Amino acid sequence: FSSITNDEDFKIRDELDEADSLFNEDKYEESIRKYDLIIRAHITSPRAYYGKGLTLDKLGFKHMSNEFLERAIDFLARVLDLENVPDELYKMAGRKLADRQQFRGWGGDAIKTFKKLSERFPDDLSLKNEYGVSYMMVGQNDKARAVFQEVLAKHPNSGFAKVHLGFILKAKDNKLEEAVQLLSEGIESQEPGTIDGRFFLHLGDSLIRLGREAEARKYFEEGEKKGLFLSAWQRSLYNVKGLTGRPWWTAEQTGYQKYLNLLKENWKTIRDEGLAQLDPATGSFLPEEENLRETGDWKQFTLYQQGRKNAKNCEKAPKTCALIDQIPDAKGCKRGQVKFSVMSPGIHVWPHVGPTNCRIRAHLGLVVPEGPTIRIVNDTRSWKEGQFIIFDDSFEHEVWHKGNATRLVLIVDFWHPELTEAQKRGLSAI
Ligand code: LMR
Ligand code: MN
Repeated sequence: FSSITNDEDFKIRDELDEADSLFNEDKYEESIRKYDLIIRAHITSPRAYYGKGLTLDKLGFKHMSNEFLERAIDFLARVLDLENVPDELYKMAGRKLADRQQFRGWGGDAIKTFKKLSERFPDDLSLKNEYGVSYMMVGQNDKARAVFQEVLAKHPNSGFAKVHLGFILKAKDNKLEEAVQLLSEGIESQEPGTIDGRFFLHLGDSLIRLGREAEARKYFEEGEKKGLFLSAWQRSLYNVKGLTGRPWWTAEQTGYQKYLNLLKENWKTIRDEGLAQLDPATGSFLPEEENLRETGDWKQFTLYQQGRKNAKNCEKAPKTCALIDQIPDAKGCKRGQVKFSVMSPGIHVWPHVGPTNCRIRAHLGLVVPEGPTIRIVNDTRSWKEGQFIIFDDSFEHEVWHKGNATRLVLIVDFWHPELTEAQKRGLSAI
């Protein structure tokens, strides 16, 4: 333990070792008492503060208590403010602190922690990379980009920095050529943290958009082999294992016929509420903002998302929402939405996948002219007014509209019928 023990701590090493042993034997009530005793006599002991922080964290788990967790964070933070903290201990405490801050939902504080760490250890490549990731975790991709660019200026071979910068250039900046270069080189490096579904997904996506489909398929196949995707075609990243996966579903296969029929019987009422929102002056449709389109207009009007009703929008489509309210597996689908979706002629939606295999997506045709088509995997179909098409959007799909009038559908996501009630309750929202 010499590398985490400063001169003062060395004098009380036996006491510290004893407290650490209690901790390692999972005797947290005893180890905390011991650390407290040490701190009372040695109020600047880095190892005692660190040990107490770790103990409080364990107690937080044991009692499922945020209060303990917050005290753990407080004690770990104090380590970084003490004098003469050995480098190794400083890093251990800092990393643990940032991790606990993120767990608590304090991503902004974790960023500050990594900033402090990378200022103290400017040559530590891993810490700089972790600093970049801490920005991504709170969606500050601009800041993250700058950090990874800095890393690569100093360490041009960091595969970890390459995949992360490539990811940002694709997802945020739409710089496809650069993204392909960085993502493929980063994956090639096989450094820890580079073999990740997100990077294979965005690399393949970029290649498809650049017209390099054969290369994209190779990465999708490799992603399947490495267990990053359910399959080369089903590339959602938030999955429950063992659920039946098939591109197209029949109403019977879903088990939701009763509810599908309820909506079908009322399709004209639903259509009229959707149509009423299409007026650009008074309507509430919003443009698709996930960068999924090559060309054309696509707008959505959302009634439910993440299992919650959008009360304001439901006021504008009360009859549709009253129907959905009768469908527990749609209105409560925390991993899906209910929304009107309107596409103008000329649109092409790039091949893409939804985020999760936990939902089955039903489209009710409302206004369907000649021309629009949707491909799921290798089977291309179209909509009919008053009829459903049902598919699993975790499989690759692509949309075109080569007609000359607007297409309107209602999209209803249902929980995958094989999920148990406990799973539905426990799954995080998406
Ligand atoms: C999609 O989610 O890609 C589309 O199918 C949505 C739509 O309105 O057709
Ligand atoms: Mn889609």
